[in-house]
Amino acid sequence: MSTPASAAPAVSAAGLRKAYGDKTVLDGIDLRIPAGSVFALLGPNGAGKSTTVKILTTLITADGGQAQVAGHDIAGSPDGVRAAIGVTGQFSAVDGLITGEENMLLMADLHHLPRREGRRVAAELLERFGLADAAKKPAQSYSGGMKRRLDIAMTLVGGPRVIFLDEPTTGLDPRSRHTMWQIIRELVAGGTTVFLTTQYLEEADELADRIAVLNDGKIAAEGTAEELKRIVPGGHVRLRFLDPAAYRAAAPALTEATGATGDDEALTLQIPSDGSQRALRDLLARLDAAGVEADELTVHTPDLDDVFFALTGSAVPSPVPGRPAQSQEDAR
Ligand SMILES: Nc1ncnc2c1ncn2[C@@H]1O[C@H](COP(=O)(O)OP(=O)(O)OP(=O)(O)O)[C@@H](O)[C@H]1O
Ligand SMILES: [Mg+2]
Repeated sequence: MSTPASAAPAVSAAGLRKAYGDKTVLDGIDLRIPAGSVFALLGPNGAGKSTTVKILTTLITADGGQAQVAGHDIAGSPDGVRAAIGVTGQFSAVDGLITGEENMLLMADLHHLPRREGRRVAAELLERFGLADAAKKPAQSYSGGMKRRLDIAMTLVGGPRVIFLDEPTTGLDPRSRHTMWQIIRELVAGGTTVFLTTQYLEEADELADRIAVLNDGKIAAEGTAEELKRIVPGGHVRLRFLDPAAYRAAAPALTEATGATGDDEALTLQIPSDGSQRALRDLLARLDAAGVEADELTVHTPDLDDVFFALTGSAVPSPVPGRPAQSQEDAR
């Protein structure tokens, strides 16, 4: 985390480009990721996150630009890159028909570890990832969280200095997600550099030292979570009405006085506000004066969601009760 700026970056890229047919996926990507830090690449579905990971891990080649990973050039020394990194793809590399232990030993073979050393490393990692008890069971009997942990354990067999995790927690329940975060923190504490992609802004906020938002083939913004949050304007209060008549009564009163914007279909009003007690009292007084009552009032301070939606050009979706607004799992 506290890596001197002068240290050689674990990953650097300049002007990376990639197109499929006439569709430009990456239109000049620059990156600089200090060793021992966590970098999160955010972007909507189809933004090119996996494409970026595949290029940096030498699974596919870029059409233009250059990149170095762990000191090796991706074009000039792909074998050097491969020897220094670990990759957990978006889709599991676990073979369900064999046991967790056998999956691990397969990786040890791929890394040409001597048999005894391979067994030691496999046992150690299975233990560390809470999979020792399940080691002799076929991996297809594992839960989603266990499979993901096995995936990452397999990635670590060769002792990589830089690991790439493409959506490591998509589909995991909150507990498994927190376990995964803990694993990632431990890896970084041990000096590993982590490059992750995620759909979850909360995840980037929690884990990443720096975050880049990919949109339209370009990095739309890059910085710490705090820096990114400063990009978007301040907070707001959202009022929701169940009764269309109440909404119609409140809307003109507030739009004029406070610059509120309304969503006629969702029956919600969004009022720019710092969320202070004084501002709320003021707002409630206006509602009283108009003789209406809102059914729901929520105070919203800017978060990464706002940054994401502001930069990727989609409207902030109205939160659906009981679900986090940023969840895009249904889109997958
Ligand atoms: N082999 C391919 N051939 C043609 N088009 C491709 C290929 N691989 C990716 N694409 C396209 O490139 C774009 C970026 O894909 P990519 O998988 O990198 O997105 P992503 O950001 O990882 O999305 P997701 O969040 O859904 O995983 C998409 O429009 C995708 O359809
Ligand atoms: Mg992807």
